[in-house]
Amino acid sequence: MSAKTASNIRIAPSILSADFSKLGEEVAAIDKAGADYIHIDVMDGHFVPNLTFGAPVVKSIRKSTDKIFDVHLMVTPVDPMIDSFVNAGADIITAHEEASPHLHRTLQHIRDKGVKAGVSLNPHTPIETIRHVMDMVDLILIMTVNPGFGGQSFIPLLDKIAAARSMINATGRDIDLQVDGGIIPETAKEVISAGTDVLVAGTAIFKDGPEFYARNIKALRA
Ligand code: DX5
Ligand code: ZN
Repeated sequence: MSAKTASNIRIAPSILSADFSKLGEEVAAIDKAGADYIHIDVMDGHFVPNLTFGAPVVKSIRKSTDKIFDVHLMVTPVDPMIDSFVNAGADIITAHEEASPHLHRTLQHIRDKGVKAGVSLNPHTPIETIRHVMDMVDLILIMTVNPGFGGQSFIPLLDKIAAARSMINATGRDIDLQVDGGIIPETAKEVISAGTDVLVAGTAIFKDGPEFYARNIKALRA
């Protein structure tokens, strides 16, 4: 496992925890506070028991930042949704392994659109399920909560994160290893040691208001 230092850890604030009444300002504030990616949680009330927003909202916040738009699709069916998020300005589109019966086709579709392709695994889903698509992914997202809500407790899937890191290293390709759910400074440390290089966090970053976003981001990198 390669050693991780604070400088190569990237932070992806989840706007699920932002104030939706002023989403553009919130996105500008986390950009200024040092976010690397903007993590955008799209939920359909079907694959997950919650609803958030669709492509028009993503398009409207595209004006507020030039940072990477990291779109986490918690929707099924996923394939018909891909083009609208590409057109709205996504840079990375992540689909769930559990949401696509033809994951190879889904990843191919995302790549054909010229954006990066991610695959996400729910807590129960073995890392083995993506072995045969490793050559097509730019990002692996390990869920450390059951998707659907912010503010849940971290599920310590450290062996799974470490196994994903080994699989990535074996490819020799540049694949982000992202962890999402229950990330606070204490759990950040654990997942970084296990091989994570991109941390998603909602609650821990948006707490206490915009003047504290930079402090909150720094606390995760430390
Ligand atoms: C959960 C989402 C997460 C969530 C993380 O379904 O994918 O991105 O917002 O929230 P926290 O950091 O509060 O666990
Ligand atoms: Zn997410």
